[in-house]
Amino acid sequence: MNLFQKVHHRLDVLSSLMWQAHTTRPAMEVVYRDLFVRDIAKLQLDDLYYPVGSAANYSLLYFVTRCFLEFPIRNAIEFGAGQSSVLMSQLNDRLRKEATITTVEHDVLWADIVRAKVNHTVIATDLVPKTIEGHKISYYGGEYFDSSVLYDFVLVDGPPAHKKETTFNRLGAMEVIENNLADSFVIVLDDMQREGEQELSNLIHCKLKQRGCNFGEVSIRGSRPQHAFAAGSFFRAAYF
Ligand SMILES: C[S@@+](CC[C@H](N)C(=O)[O-])C[C@H]1O[C@@H](n2cnc3c(N)ncnc32)[C@H](O)[C@@H]1O
Repeated sequence: MNLFQKVHHRLDVLSSLMWQAHTTRPAMEVVYRDLFVRDIAKLQLDDLYYPVGSAANYSLLYFVTRCFLEFPIRNAIEFGAGQSSVLMSQLNDRLRKEATITTVEHDVLWADIVRAKVNHTVIATDLVPKTIEGHKISYYGGEYFDSSVLYDFVLVDGPPAHKKETTFNRLGAMEVIENNLADSFVIVLDDMQREGEQELSNLIHCKLKQRGCNFGEVSIRGSRPQHAFAAGSFFRAAYF
């Protein structure tokens, strides 16, 4: 490595550290953990969670739990199976909400593992090429959601979008948000430190504005950042 490359590398590291400090609040993770552990203990739910690695972190688990506790969620859809799928299933059963929950997952083996742990539909479907807002992406193919349903809880944590060529994959969530949102809703996006998720957040913001929807927004920041949109009788989620 020559001197120029070394300086370039150091600047890259510095820039990534500064970005992380700007987008996350690692100290808040403990606060979200306490709230989550308190809430599931109150509901006498087993703590089955490992909120580490690429799984949902505590701020996301806190937010999902609070939404299920406070809102009469009827139709939930989640992109990317894992800890959050198990949590939504547990909450739905314990709170006797009888919400219809759909989890969409591209990895068949992982979908099988998660399906065995939940009491709702887990759809496994391949990623196929699509173009969304001018971006060529890979997104869930086939009829992965029910076009006759208006969803009131949308969690975007899939498909994978961590590599350069997959940056904008999650823009595919617009397929549901475009025409299948209920009047009262919460949309939550994970991994908001990334360019693709920020673009998705901007698109949703513009779409809701165009529609004349009265919505609120909130950023939830623990070891990873989320962003949520809320409207109608679920508006107060913008203060969670
Ligand atoms: C960012 S993860 C998060 C999924 C989920 N919302 C959660 O709370 O854990 C997204 C993708 O990673 C993959 N994945 C997550 N955990 C995995 C595991 N333990 N083994 C294999 N794949 C996994 C799945 O394909 C999943 O769709």
